[in-house]
Amino acid sequence: MHKRTLTILIATSVAVTASTQVFAYGAGDFFARLGVAKFAPKSDNGSLDTALGVLETDVQDDSAFAFALGYRFTDKLGVELLASEPFDHDIELNDANLASTEHLPPTLTLQYYPLGGTDAYVQPYVGVGVNYTRFSDEKTKVDGVSLELDDSWGAAGQLGLDLLIDDRWALNGAVWYMDIDTDAKVGGADAGKVELDPILVMGGISYHF
Ligand code: NI
Repeated sequence: MHKRTLTILIATSVAVTASTQVFAYGAGDFFARLGVAKFAPKSDNGSLDTALGVLETDVQDDSAFAFALGYRFTDKLGVELLASEPFDHDIELNDANLASTEHLPPTLTLQYYPLGGTDAYVQPYVGVGVNYTRFSDEKTKVDGVSLELDDSWGAAGQLGLDLLIDDRWALNGAVWYMDIDTDAKVGGADAGKVELDPILVMGGISYHF
């Protein structure tokens, strides 16, 4: 056999092996996802009844680095915890940028992977679970008027997609809906609820091991 023919045969068999290789993706995997997330509250966040009058709230969007850690109990079932650096939101009161808050919205979901354990390169998933949001550093630009936002517990839902690159890495995109309603105090007095009920969209990479 000519050396050149042998080289071509080896190259071809390597290529065929690579293209038919099945990436393990399923039971027993730990996984991490890392990306940038945009936290977008719904457009109308409720009205607050305060000593300053009725204030219509509009909480603005923010983006931050986010990451998720998870485990696959079976090929098709997993659990994932989403965490992030703090999101920092301006809050419009009657259309004026008069307040702000930071928050952390960790979210735990139980996930279903319909194609887990198969050789599909495109691996979608859905999840349902619970969100806990902790607000901090609430401020207003109105002299002497404080803002206080209580912690929130609520339901969460999730859709995601991994596009497998190799046995470890994937491109990832995911979207969450979170039910986040917080009791607000303005100037120390109960003022009603602020409903964020956001969509969180994250794009980045997945690594499983
Ligand atoms: Ni809500």
